[in-house]
Amino acid sequence: MPHAWSPESWRAKPIQQQPEYPDASHLARVEQTLAGYPPLVFAGEARELRRQFAEVTQGRAFLLQGGDCAESFAEFSAAKIRDTFKVLLQMAIVMTFAAGCPVVKVGRMAGQFAKPRSAGSETIDGVTLPAYRGDIVNGIGFDATSRAPDPERLLQAYHQATASLNLLRAFAQGGFADLHQVHQWNLDFIANSALSEKYHQLAGRIDETLSFMRAVGMDSAPQLRETSFFTAHEALLLNYEQAFVRKDSLTGRWYDCSAHMLWIGDRTRQLDGAHVEFMRGIENPIGVKVGPSLDPDELIRLIDTLNPENDPGRLNLIVRMGADKVEAHFPRLLRKVQSEGRQVLWSSDPMHGNTIKASSGYKTRDFAQILAEVRQFFAVHQAEGTHAGGIHIEMTGQNVTECIGGSRPITEDGLSDRYHTHCDPRMNADQSLELAFMIAETLKQVRR
Ligand code: PEP
Ligand code: CO
Repeated sequence: MPHAWSPESWRAKPIQQQPEYPDASHLARVEQTLAGYPPLVFAGEARELRRQFAEVTQGRAFLLQGGDCAESFAEFSAAKIRDTFKVLLQMAIVMTFAAGCPVVKVGRMAGQFAKPRSAGSETIDGVTLPAYRGDIVNGIGFDATSRAPDPERLLQAYHQATASLNLLRAFAQGGFADLHQVHQWNLDFIANSALSEKYHQLAGRIDETLSFMRAVGMDSAPQLRETSFFTAHEALLLNYEQAFVRKDSLTGRWYDCSAHMLWIGDRTRQLDGAHVEFMRGIENPIGVKVGPSLDPDELIRLIDTLNPENDPGRLNLIVRMGADKVEAHFPRLLRKVQSEGRQVLWSSDPMHGNTIKASSGYKTRDFAQILAEVRQFFAVHQAEGTHAGGIHIEMTGQNVTECIGGSRPITEDGLSDRYHTHCDPRMNADQSLELAFMIAETLKQVRR
């Protein structure tokens, strides 16, 4: 029998990737304040996402999860939220319409602030300071004041997440996501490209379908006018997460109401660690990143700790191997999970195993490698007769130059033009849309 869980039982476990706050009592005061604030989401919404996850696990839908690597306080505006949301809508409609497959949409948004780092400190010109761990912890500037972890940042993150979620809810339900607007979701800067042409052709077919439906009196379904959209982030900073754990009055169960879905990163998935302890007790749908170092037996123990009832809507395994490692590491994990009869939603994160350093020094990813990892993820599933459930990507609606390649190729020399990310390089709208068309084609073949 596992020991009793409580919202704070993680505190007795070893924990990785945490900041060292200079003033513990200041942190405790902020945690108390947050615990008294209204939650961001309602438990019933998290249950609905679990229901939709179960649909994906059973092969009846596809999961699209995307957004910034790290949201930031500086890059916070209605336009940025809107443009990322637009690209996610475009990607989803391409997959839904071209592949005839319902798409569950989840943003890495409204709470994706805390970052794990490969080193705890950073040294520049002989000066060593704590690493930047995301705006919820400290500032990105390389000076002692910016890098000192400040608990007040938890409050700012909460307020930004609240405002972001408010706008996302308005966009999803207030007419913006109406299918009759499908042409308007295209962003100006991808206009006049081959990709934009392809998108407008598809949008034209949707228009025709809608006018046919109107003509036969079948256009009153609310699904045509609004959409559902969920939020997720990495549950890394457990001081923040614990403050949002609330007991649902309908079921008496615990939910982390900071987002609909939370995931555990590849660096914090230790079986006896604090993050696994925290996540096993909340009822939200959850994810775990699965990197090349994970052993099949350990994966089964992890699954059984996090999803003891083998519920198909509970657990999303997010595979992030790197295009050159999928073949060597993924099939044995998939076979083990299959042979042990565990029900999980498999998705592909083609970003985190494909990070490289350009000769100019920029951290980047090659779009060709991103496509290659997704293709291999699908191919492995096809070979094993299992369902490739979704993708998990870092992208933005801004016209950034952070990942090289794509149909309007970004070169290594061009990276410096608009390189804005606070952490990892994201796909821009062009690259995201191109990936969506590739997936739609693949899904169409698989489903046939
Ligand atoms: C992330 O998703 O931003 C991340 C840090 O991923 P991973 O834990 O897979 O490295
Ligand atoms: Co990242």
